[in-house]
Amino acid sequence: MNIGLDSIAFSTSKYFFALENFAAHRGVAFEKYSNGIGQSKMSVFPPNEDIVTIAIDAAQKAVSKIEDASSIDLLIFATESSFDLSKAAGIYVHHFLNLREDCRVMEIKQACYSATAALQLAKAFVHQNPSSKVLVVGSDIVKYSPGSSGEPTQGGAAVAFVISADPRIMIIENGSGVHTNDIMDFWRPVSESEAIFDGKLSAYNYLKSLDISFARYLKKTNRTISDIDYVCFHAPFGKMARKGAQQIRWQKSIDDTLIYNSVIGNSCSASLYICLISLLDNGSDLANSRIGLYSYGSGSVAEYFSGIICEKYKSCITPEENRRILEDRHEISFEEYELFCRNQFPLESDTYENSGTFKLKAIENKRRVYLTA
Ligand code: CAA
Repeated sequence: MNIGLDSIAFSTSKYFFALENFAAHRGVAFEKYSNGIGQSKMSVFPPNEDIVTIAIDAAQKAVSKIEDASSIDLLIFATESSFDLSKAAGIYVHHFLNLREDCRVMEIKQACYSATAALQLAKAFVHQNPSSKVLVVGSDIVKYSPGSSGEPTQGGAAVAFVISADPRIMIIENGSGVHTNDIMDFWRPVSESEAIFDGKLSAYNYLKSLDISFARYLKKTNRTISDIDYVCFHAPFGKMARKGAQQIRWQKSIDDTLIYNSVIGNSCSASLYICLISLLDNGSDLANSRIGLYSYGSGSVAEYFSGIICEKYKSCITPEENRRILEDRHEISFEEYELFCRNQFPLESDTYENSGTFKLKAIENKRRVYLTA
């Protein structure tokens, strides 16, 4: 049975901060960001937008593209920027998408790897229940402390995809290479709103885990690198993905995979799938191509796996709509950027634009209240 992605969509903030402006305010040469890390803009989020509002937007788009939304009976919400240790953020998505009452919902976490964990669980679930569809949402807003080396790599986005039998976009192949090791390269204790990280150690471990998981993938599938047509790498910033390509001696261009990420910034669990959408939208004809995918989540779990692009995938993707999401954003000033970074609460008087049809209206008695935007 073929199982894989039947639809895919993303969402991000309506606001971005240009790294050229950021560089000028931090007294750093812009070339460090444009060439050195490979980024030009970062998505930044107003107080009435959170991982739930962008997740709802991405999920509404992904679900609108499938034939039978009533067959979704599992929703997995993957995130590392969760705001609740008990209630799954996916419950809000389930509610506002009016999914079936007997649809299971759960939240899953392992840093930026979490959406890939969800994808593999979803595949196994559909294997057991071939008439089921699973909605996977990866949603993260990435914040580092001001002045830290990670600050120019902030960003955020949500990606949503529906996993089903007989998919129309990409079949997920059996056989992958996994590498797990206990390392303190990036983490966020429950008391903290920003991640703590050792940037150099994280980059080192990203590459080491790539070496190991890729070698395991090749061995398990009995393939060589020449059996792979395109590769998407988890992209905390574009240059990290390019270093990944270098590490495995990948000779072909990965430019098409990084177009969206370079103007969104790191979106953690969503990042690898933003790269996949970027490739689907900007690559020429990918039908029947094998795509290698490298997922890395600090802490750490890494997985290299692959998919085959379906014959008629072009009729199921929306490149114009996706480009418009990024082109229609508003640029903010440094002062607004600082304000957005302050983790303020939403106010009734706020007039910020939202990514989609829902906004975070308020946090009342520690309850998050969402409303139509
Ligand atoms: N012109 C052109 N290039 C320049 C330059 C200039 N004026 N100045 C510096 N550069 C280059 C440097 O030579 C360097 O290139 P190489 O890596 O090819 O040598 C690049 O710009 C970056 O410079 P630094 O190494 O000095 O940068 P930094 O130390 O300030 O920050 C970083 C780099 C440590 C990775 C930082 O971005 C960071 O801490 N990021 C957060 C952690 C992270 O994203 N880790 C990635 C792996 S972990 C992961 O993938 C999970 C996740 O999503 C977080």
